[in-house]
Amino acid sequence: MVTSPAKPFLKWAGGKTQLLDEVRKRIPLQVKEGEVPVFVEPFVGGGAVYFSLNGMFDFKTCHIFDINEELILAYTVVRDDVESLIHHLDEIAEEFLSRDAPVRKEYYYHMRNEFNQTKGDINFNRFGREWTKRAAQLMFLNRTCFNGLFRVNARGEFNVPYGRYKNPPILNATLLRADSDILRNTKIHHGDFTAAGPYISGSSFAYFDPPYRPLNQTSSFTGYAKDGFSDDEQRRLAQFFTKCDATGAKLMLSNSDPRNISPDDNFFDSLYSDYRIARVPAKRYINRDGTKRGKINEIIVTNY
Ligand SMILES: C[S@@+](CC[C@H](N)C(=O)[O-])C[C@H]1O[C@@H](n2cnc3c(N)ncnc32)[C@H](O)[C@@H]1O
Repeated sequence: MVTSPAKPFLKWAGGKTQLLDEVRKRIPLQVKEGEVPVFVEPFVGGGAVYFSLNGMFDFKTCHIFDINEELILAYTVVRDDVESLIHHLDEIAEEFLSRDAPVRKEYYYHMRNEFNQTKGDINFNRFGREWTKRAAQLMFLNRTCFNGLFRVNARGEFNVPYGRYKNPPILNATLLRADSDILRNTKIHHGDFTAAGPYISGSSFAYFDPPYRPLNQTSSFTGYAKDGFSDDEQRRLAQFFTKCDATGAKLMLSNSDPRNISPDDNFFDSLYSDYRIARVPAKRYINRDGTKRGKINEIIVTNY
């Protein structure tokens, strides 16, 4: 078993770095023994689990998917054009970091405008040189915006305000090269999770990390819940999980645990009643309001 320095190159809502130990504890034996050649992640997001597992185990091929086209563009550029990406980011970092605070803020909003205004010029279906500049802009905005998240408004514009970090780490060339290397055995797909179907078989291990089911109405840590991953979507996913199970694939899925708030809420327990459900401590909190903070569980479903 080799370990690799590869890890997420973007900060992403719902990042699983905190859950990695619990995921690793539950890796199927066949994966550890090198008997499973294909890894599939239908909701890759920042890729904490993907980078960790593809660095640890000897998968012949990985398939990663996400519905977010900017994210898929960035993964593709990191894999296929990393040196040029590093060059772009280096220029941006130098320009930004050499300026004083008020000018940095202006630079940020200028970049944000350009990013939004040029979206229409990008063909997200076909790699072109303009992809690399866009990936560099996305990474810069991700590192310098408030809370380091990617969020778009109803018109699809990136609308996060400036973050005022003192020395934001805009370029980490070593990390980007390590990620590029890890991505070499990986097919990167833009699409709905069901598009992963053809790649899930008795030779695969798949990890599903869908957008969390919000624990309460005002829950603030589901950055993309408003994009509509409703309970119906969770049900559609459970049906897909059952379909994948029938192929003989090894499957793991994580989500928030509704019982943190409502002890009688059996939503996932009934959706996944045919499978093993573990409740594991998560290092995140129910409320940002300090007085109501409490540790919570997440659920991990496995079919083995
Ligand atoms: C919880 S995040 C994944 C977090 C990731 N495992 C990590 O560690 O950063 C969920 C991801 O699902 C994506 N998503 C939402 N709806 C989707 C759909 N119908 N099909 C595929 N991906 C979807 C979102 O864009 C988001 O990146």
